[in-house]
Amino acid sequence: RPSPAAAPDRLPFSRITQEDLAFFRKILPGRAVTDPDLLESSNVDWLKSVKGSSELLLRPQTTEEVSQILKYCNSRNLAVNPQGGNTGLVGGSVPVYDEIILSTALMNNILTFDSISGILTCQAGCVLENLSLYLEDRDYIMPLDLGAKGSCHIGGNVATNAGGLRLLRYGSLRGTVLGLEVVLADGRVLDCLATLRKDNTGYDLKQLFIGSEGTLGVITSVSILCPRKPTSVNVVFLGCETFEQLLKTFQLSRGMLGEILSAFEFLDSECMRLLNTHLKLRNPISDCPFYVVIETSGSDSTHDGEKLHHFLEEAMTSSLVTDGTVATEDSKIKALWSMRERVTEALTHDGFTYKYDISLPVERIYQLVTDMREHLGDRAKSVVGYGHVGDGNLHLNVTSPAKDPALLAAIEPFVYEWTASCNGSISAEHGLGLKKRNYIYYSKPSLAVALMGNIKAMLDPKGILNPYKTLPDDLK
Ligand code: FAD
Ligand code: MLT
Ligand code: ZN
Repeated sequence: RPSPAAAPDRLPFSRITQEDLAFFRKILPGRAVTDPDLLESSNVDWLKSVKGSSELLLRPQTTEEVSQILKYCNSRNLAVNPQGGNTGLVGGSVPVYDEIILSTALMNNILTFDSISGILTCQAGCVLENLSLYLEDRDYIMPLDLGAKGSCHIGGNVATNAGGLRLLRYGSLRGTVLGLEVVLADGRVLDCLATLRKDNTGYDLKQLFIGSEGTLGVITSVSILCPRKPTSVNVVFLGCETFEQLLKTFQLSRGMLGEILSAFEFLDSECMRLLNTHLKLRNPISDCPFYVVIETSGSDSTHDGEKLHHFLEEAMTSSLVTDGTVATEDSKIKALWSMRERVTEALTHDGFTYKYDISLPVERIYQLVTDMREHLGDRAKSVVGYGHVGDGNLHLNVTSPAKDPALLAAIEPFVYEWTASCNGSISAEHGLGLKKRNYIYYSKPSLAVALMGNIKAMLDPKGILNPYKTLPDDLK
């Protein structure tokens, strides 16, 4: 029996003709790519787990061009796969069959930045790290940061409602995104690119597109509220003997660091083993079952340093942490952060990776890793846990030497049943994409899924936008 994660049969979309190619070449001179070598990387996802066979990659530069593309595709019943930096982890960013890839890579202009309000407006294809560098020169930062910052686009971040490493402090994109410009499936341009903090004029339509994974429209521009750049940043890397002590350390940090706490992340000793083995990264402290990365951000280094010192003293004397190291200068801060950020990369060297991105009540998050290890026994190569403790978000990853359908059948639906039994979410921040679409019912009631289907039918009646993704097959 095929796994519910497997692709369904190809839907009856049109196939690209010479007339279609002539149209795209006319409106996008030199930017309608058909060379198979150039198309190869856009057809495969970052995890190398989904491979499409698209024969056309379109690289628009303007909203008007996106509008012309979608108007034409809709009239011709041609399926389209919107693509940003192609760093998505759920098989949503690449075609399943021959969908046309619509890349935002050339839509990378910053439109406006207001240095009083901190509101940035830019095209959807701006790379997150480039936006961060632009803002840092102006004493601001982006409200989100993730390991994929060097490749992911802000439009992709919004389309997946990416969480990342700063969510604990600055909240989700649902709060910081102030406006969006979106091209609908039929080519109409929805201009909700407000730059206002407050706007209660009717329904907040932009929220529909945040986290919609390219299934409801193509995001072409984003306006986003950016925080001031903190002048004092500290990062500590700590070791804990048990997950219970790690949670107590989290509690203590919230109480003692208060408003300067900006991140609380964890990885287990299995992650550390993979960082050592595959990336040659050395553990900066002594070996422990659990490691924590805590970041503080504030505006007064003396004040922040004192608070951190008192917190560390208390955590050590009450034996919550067994070892630790502190960084205040940039290079060491980066080195400590890489121990957490590069786990994803280390896993790809370990083997084929089955990734789970689960929200749970925080006190339950590591139990799932322990139970999965016991459940799989020696069928898995590695079973690791890491994630965003501050957000109650566990990343459970299982590797095997190669794709292994029997192993997948042992993991799913076990992992989803476990999660649902704790009222957790089967997708905390990565979305559903191709791989998790049919498991949506573990986290959403049937009525909610049916309403999602109605919204999809209203905005994209022919279903040309990112087919086979996000919504379960039984809706189609
Ligand atoms: P893509 O991968 O290209 O696309 C993702 C989805 O969005 C697809 O469904 C696509 O169709 C759609 N899409 C893209 N652009 C648009 C657009 N303009 N309009 C409409 N739809 C669009 N995610 C987190 O949440 N938190 C993390 O901490 C995190 N860390 C990561 C670390 C690494 C090393 C990697 C590889 C990935 C990580 N991710 C994380 C996942 C991924 O980076 C995010 O989901 C990111 O937001 C995707 O952006 P992208 O531009 O690469 O989008
Ligand atoms: C992370 O937090 O590191 C990302 O979400 C990527 C991953 O889950 O591997
Ligand atoms: Zn994450």
